[in-house]
Amino acid sequence: MTEITAVRGFKDILPDQAWIWRLVEDKARDLARRFGYQELRVPILERTELFARGIGEATDVVEKEMYTFEDRSGDRITLRPEATAGLARAVLEHNLAEGGRPTRLFCLGPMFRYERPQKGRQRQFHQLDVEVFGDPGPYVDAEVVAFLNDFLTELGFDDVSVQLNSLGCPKCRPAFRKRLTDHLLAQKDSLCPDCLRRLGRNPLRVLDCKVEACQAVAASGPEMADFLCLECREHLAGVTGALTDLGLGYSLNGRLVRGLDYYARTAFEVHSDRLGAQSAVAGGGRYDGLCREIGGPDVPGIGFAVGLERVIMALSQTLELRTQRPDYYLAALAPEALGPAFALAQKLRKRGLAVEADWAAGSLKSRLKRADRLGAAKVIMLGPDELANNEATVRDMATKEQSKKPLADF
Ligand code: HAM
Repeated sequence: MTEITAVRGFKDILPDQAWIWRLVEDKARDLARRFGYQELRVPILERTELFARGIGEATDVVEKEMYTFEDRSGDRITLRPEATAGLARAVLEHNLAEGGRPTRLFCLGPMFRYERPQKGRQRQFHQLDVEVFGDPGPYVDAEVVAFLNDFLTELGFDDVSVQLNSLGCPKCRPAFRKRLTDHLLAQKDSLCPDCLRRLGRNPLRVLDCKVEACQAVAASGPEMADFLCLECREHLAGVTGALTDLGLGYSLNGRLVRGLDYYARTAFEVHSDRLGAQSAVAGGGRYDGLCREIGGPDVPGIGFAVGLERVIMALSQTLELRTQRPDYYLAALAPEALGPAFALAQKLRKRGLAVEADWAAGSLKSRLKRADRLGAAKVIMLGPDELANNEATVRDMATKEQSKKPLADF
C-alpha cells in the first residue's frame, strides 16, 4: 500500500520550528495589547456568499482559489481565504461597532487558497490579521502601519520596505478605471493572456502584473494619483504626514493595487528582500465599503494581514531550530526501578518541572545518550543500589558531576 502523505500545499509545522511560531504569535499578542487590539476568533468556514460579495467575484481569490463545497444540507460553504470578511461579518452580527467608538481587533490562524504551491506560497497558510472598524482615518491608517512595522522590526527584520498607494474611492476611481481601460484596450496586443482576461472585469490588476510587456503598457498609462478627488488626496496626505511624524519610512507606489476588491483609498504592502519571489510579507488597506457590501450599515475599516510562513521563513535564516528541553531525564536502570521512577516523574511535573523518561529499563550508557539527545539539564538515575538506599543519583549533564539525593527530598 502506498504511504499516505499530507495534502499538496498543506504543511506540517515540526517540533523544531514550533518555538519560532510561538515567538511570533507571542509578539503579535504583545503588540495587540500595547496598541489596544482585542482577539476575535472567527470560524474557519463561512458561507461562500460572504467572500464572493466581500472580496469580489472578479478577483483571483474568489474566481480560482477558494476551497468551496456543499455541506450535507446543501449549503455552499468556503474555507476562509482571508480573515477580513469574516471579521466584518462578526462585527456586524454582534453589533461590535455600535456606540461610535472604533473597534480594534486581531485574529491569528490558518487561511486556505488553492494556489500553485512554491517557496513562500502554500494552500494552507497562516496570518496575523489586524483590523479597525469604525474610524474613517487617516491617523488610524498610520496606526496600523506602525503596528505592522513594530511587529516586524521587533522580530528582527531590518530590511522591510513599506509601499503605499491610494486607490481612490467610488467617487473618483471610475474615471481612472475608464481611462486605464481605454489605454489598455489600445495596446491589448501587448498584454499577456491573464491581463486580457482581467481587462473587462478587473483592469486595475493589470497594474501589478509581473510580465514585463504588461508592466511596460502599465507604465505608459494613466496614474491614479492624477485622478484622486480632494477628499482622497487629503486622506493620503494625512496618512503620509502621520507616518513621517513617526519617522516611519515608506515609498509611494502608484502601481500598487491589491488582489481583493474591497479596498478604497489607502492600500499598502510590506516586502522583504530576504524572501525571494514571494517577497510580500504583509498587505492591507482601507475597506470602507465592505460592511455595506455584505449587507450591513456603512462602517469604515482598515487593516492588514501578515503571512506568518513568510515571517518565519525569514526568521529561520537567523534563528537556530530547536525543540524544548527537559529539566530532568529519568533513567530507570532496572525493571524494579520503573515504578518509583514513574512516581518521581509525576511528583516533579506537579512542581512545574519538565520531565521526560522512557518507560523501559535500559543500560546507563544508552540512557545517558538519550538524555543527551533530548538536551536534558539533569539526569536522575534509579538503579538497584539507589532503590536499596531510598535515594537517586543526580547527574548534571553540563558539568558531569554526580551526587546522591534521598527520594523524599525531591
Ligand atoms: P493578502 O495580501 O491577500 O491580504 O494576504 C496578506 C499576506 O498573506 C500576504 O502578504 C502574504 O504574506 C500572505 N499570503 C497570502 N497568500 C499566501 C499563500 N498562498 N501562502 C503563504 N502566504 C500567503 C489579505 O489577506 C487581506 N485580508 C489583508 C487585509 C486585512 N486587508 C485589510 N485587512
